[in-house]
Amino acid sequence: MITSKEFARRRKDLMAMIGKNAIAIVPAAAEQTRSRDTLYPYRQSSDFHYLSGFPEPEAVLVLIPGRAKGQFIVFCRERDRERETWDGYRAGPEGACEQYGADDAFPIADIDDILPGLLEGKSKVYSALGKDKDFDQRLMEWVNSIRAKARTGAVPPGEFVDLDHLLHENRLFKKPAELKLMRRAAKISAEAHCRAMRASKPGLNEYQLQAEIEHTFAMEGASFPAYTSIVGGGDNACILHYVENNQPLNDGDLVLIDAGCEYQYYAADITRTFPVNGRFSPAQKAIYELVLKAQLAGIEAARAGNHWDAPHQATVEVITAGLVKLGLLKGSVKKLIAAGAYSEFYMHRAGHWLGMDVHDVGDYKVDGEWRLLEAGMVMTIEPGIYIAPDCKKVAKKWRGIGVRIEDDVAITRRGTEVLTAGVPKTVAEIEALMAA
Ligand code: GLY
Ligand code: MN
Ligand code: MN
Repeated sequence: MITSKEFARRRKDLMAMIGKNAIAIVPAAAEQTRSRDTLYPYRQSSDFHYLSGFPEPEAVLVLIPGRAKGQFIVFCRERDRERETWDGYRAGPEGACEQYGADDAFPIADIDDILPGLLEGKSKVYSALGKDKDFDQRLMEWVNSIRAKARTGAVPPGEFVDLDHLLHENRLFKKPAELKLMRRAAKISAEAHCRAMRASKPGLNEYQLQAEIEHTFAMEGASFPAYTSIVGGGDNACILHYVENNQPLNDGDLVLIDAGCEYQYYAADITRTFPVNGRFSPAQKAIYELVLKAQLAGIEAARAGNHWDAPHQATVEVITAGLVKLGLLKGSVKKLIAAGAYSEFYMHRAGHWLGMDVHDVGDYKVDGEWRLLEAGMVMTIEPGIYIAPDCKKVAKKWRGIGVRIEDDVAITRRGTEVLTAGVPKTVAEIEALMAA
């Protein structure tokens, strides 16, 4: 759990970065229509949650370092007995102060009257520019309302700065309480993958394995999948973001499952590929073991002091050399790497930052160079090989094989912690689990 003290520390860190004379403004996520008058389940924006824990839509969070009457201000919906009877509890401005630690809180309906006064006299405004057109426009309207009063001595802010850069640098480094939640998300997700492996058999449909996975998420109190679960049997494993999940699982095929839960706003992201019937064929095993070797090399390279691209390069080297050895690529390994020949079979990068968002925030380059890995960063390592079913240039036995293996790795001072180690990934371990 993230305590209110931790939320307060996050705000304090950010305020120290933006400095006095500045104001930061963060809007809550908007509700999204799913169909007619039915909404998608609401999920607060990660930035808004990170700074407040406040879970409601129609809210705006404002930070004003050094403001004597309070630095943390929330605009939110007022309490409303009838709306709460229909749609659920609202904190109201009183609750924003009492439960979420706001120094000051106002009804969201009053924001046009109050916010210009808070902006006035500040020289810099920090916000996520260009993300939300409507919000950008409203911000300009608030600023313009100050400009319109210039003759009375009102001073509008002169500088608009992107908040994301600073805020996301903080989010990139996971604190102990965050790592604890990420371990939990990873453990639940690992358990879910084990359950799907045990349940697998020819004749099931892809959606039935999806149900096994998401059953564990739900039973463990993980509110949602962190992204749409991917369950691709046979050729479908070669479609990177396959989400139809509605085809029968056939004897002799592999199935690729890429699924992870979100637990208290933190994501896990795991891929395992296994035989539907519990036994790898020789061709499947050859490709699988190559991907595994690449994945282990990638994890080995994910260490503090190495640059961001080192794990990717490690996977590229292993995969290219292995594809030459198996006869899927021909030529010198060095030249094939330089020419990017592997990308016909391995067309994505080895991973991404992981945190509150599955493809989490944080810069990958600093001053034009790959950044160095540091303790507290969490990333995925997920190489794959995907051989298109109609790939005429390789022997028939390879066609339609798609394998990805993905784990979540925290960089520590001493090395790495594989958060998702709870789900097996060697051929022997998988076959043993599925046979049991
Ligand atoms: N599940 C999305 C990804 O692996 O990046
Ligand atoms: Mn994934
Ligand atoms: Mn991933």
